[in-house]
Amino acid sequence: MTLMIGIPRETAAEEKRVATVPEVVEKLIKLGFKVAVESGAGDTANCSDDAYRAAGAEIIDGAAKLWSSSDIVFKVCVPTTEEVGLMREGGTLIGFIWPAQNPELMQQLAAKKATVLAIDSLPRQLSRAQKMDALTSQAGVAGYRAVIEAANAFGRFFNGQITAAGKVPPAKVFIAGAGVAGLAAIGTAASLGAIVRANDTRAEVADQVVSLGGEFVKVDYEEEGSGGGGYAKVMSEGFQQAQREMYAKQAREVDIIITTALIPGKPAPRLITAEMVQSMKPGSVIVDMAAERGGNCELTEPGQAVVKHGVTIVGYTDLPSRLAKQSSTLYATNLFRLAEELCKTKDGIINVNMEDDAIRGLTVIKEGNITWPAPAPKLPAAPAKPAAAKAAAPAAKGHGHGGAGAPMAGGKLAIMFGVAAVLFWLIGAYAPPAFLGHFTVFVLACFVGYMVVWNVTPALHTPLMSVTNAISSIIAIGALVQIAPPDVADGRGLILALAVLALALTAVNMFGGFAVTQRMLAMFRK
Ligand code: NAI
Repeated sequence: MTLMIGIPRETAAEEKRVATVPEVVEKLIKLGFKVAVESGAGDTANCSDDAYRAAGAEIIDGAAKLWSSSDIVFKVCVPTTEEVGLMREGGTLIGFIWPAQNPELMQQLAAKKATVLAIDSLPRQLSRAQKMDALTSQAGVAGYRAVIEAANAFGRFFNGQITAAGKVPPAKVFIAGAGVAGLAAIGTAASLGAIVRANDTRAEVADQVVSLGGEFVKVDYEEEGSGGGGYAKVMSEGFQQAQREMYAKQAREVDIIITTALIPGKPAPRLITAEMVQSMKPGSVIVDMAAERGGNCELTEPGQAVVKHGVTIVGYTDLPSRLAKQSSTLYATNLFRLAEELCKTKDGIINVNMEDDAIRGLTVIKEGNITWPAPAPKLPAAPAKPAAAKAAAPAAKGHGHGGAGAPMAGGKLAIMFGVAAVLFWLIGAYAPPAFLGHFTVFVLACFVGYMVVWNVTPALHTPLMSVTNAISSIIAIGALVQIAPPDVADGRGLILALAVLALALTAVNMFGGFAVTQRMLAMFRK
């Protein structure tokens, strides 16, 4: 018997999203399911009843009928008590649940003998789970929308312009927290032409900030902010003090601040004080994405856009819903990918396989038994970080490379230079004079090569390889010029022909190498 997936209209105030869209309905039907949509469920996300009908869904009038006729319900927002009341006994519910924050809801659902898959409980660290990661898809939309809200409240262009009417400087945007939402905001603001800076307590995101067109601003205090699993930890008082000073400086300089800083299970860190707001230029904008969790800015009013000290502070807590068609489409795709995992047989029947790490993590109630929290999924062991790299971190400050080649300690370096000098003296004393010259060039080439490779961010090693390939071709030309033709008169024509052929091939390699490098580097530019 194929199961019916039901899509109710979201009842939360101002919620415009819907749990599936017509394009995805077709795919669910191909998986063998029947799909029912409550009449009007997609209206606010530009998905009409007719579009759902055309995709093969049945349109049902009224929530009561929809809930009672569905074996599986796809939802966006946490269900209300009334909605749980409408649910079919023993049914399946998939959507946002937040079990830690909603213990009563969990009890109500368990009493209904329900099976509940909380999309917010997905083990995000599993790469296989990324396609189902609705937190990421929604935060990405929210980050984009935060920039649009900022642009809307800001009275100027984002990009710098030189026009007949005068010169316009580019807007400066500072993003606090470069997680999913922060990175989306960086990419969006940079693509609009603003100068973008960002800060995060996790140093590992610096490269990502740069690759999206931003500049990573460091706090002048050495402390690693990663708490594992891609999340942050609460920082020491010393760090927080140094961070406040840096943020105060940014607040004076920039036009727009977008804050996204969050530590799971903790109130949002207070990063922007009232004095910082006061120090901003009139007409500046703050978008506080963490408004729902208390806000990163002291003056934020959750759900509102307010003007304080001449600065507009946007504290909307429904940013994904403000881009309803986009967020609904991405969410629907996340749930479809989950449906695929649950129905590998493609016959419209689901198997909630508790042996599967991703499914186990998602399942917070199985047939009325609360199974939350799930044990941590088994992950391949992370490679141990070399202790030396950590110790050398302060010295490496400001180098901006991947940390692969931490500078050596002074004593070791002196010994190495001493040994090298003695070696050179010995070679100079005993080897033929021409050898010393070649050997010196060889040693210097090795040194320069080592420094070039080790000081380049690992992400750029592939373009580096193609450019060194091109350069080595130039060396081949040099070598051809160096090699004197043998003194055989009748062999000259052949040698010349071979040399021309070699030059032609080298030229292909050379220009090809530069062209490929150019294309690869372009991928990193925004
Ligand atoms: P995330 O966990 O991926 O990112 C948060 C980032 O903040 C992390 O990179 C973390 O290292 C950083 N962080 C933590 N403490 C910090 C500190 N003291 N200084 C600098 N950086 C710090 O979270 P995600 O998914 O990007 O969401 C970001 C925020 O946006 C959250 O507060 C979330 O609740 C909110 N959000 C708001 C929406 C809205 O409609 N307003 C919609 C979606 C998300």
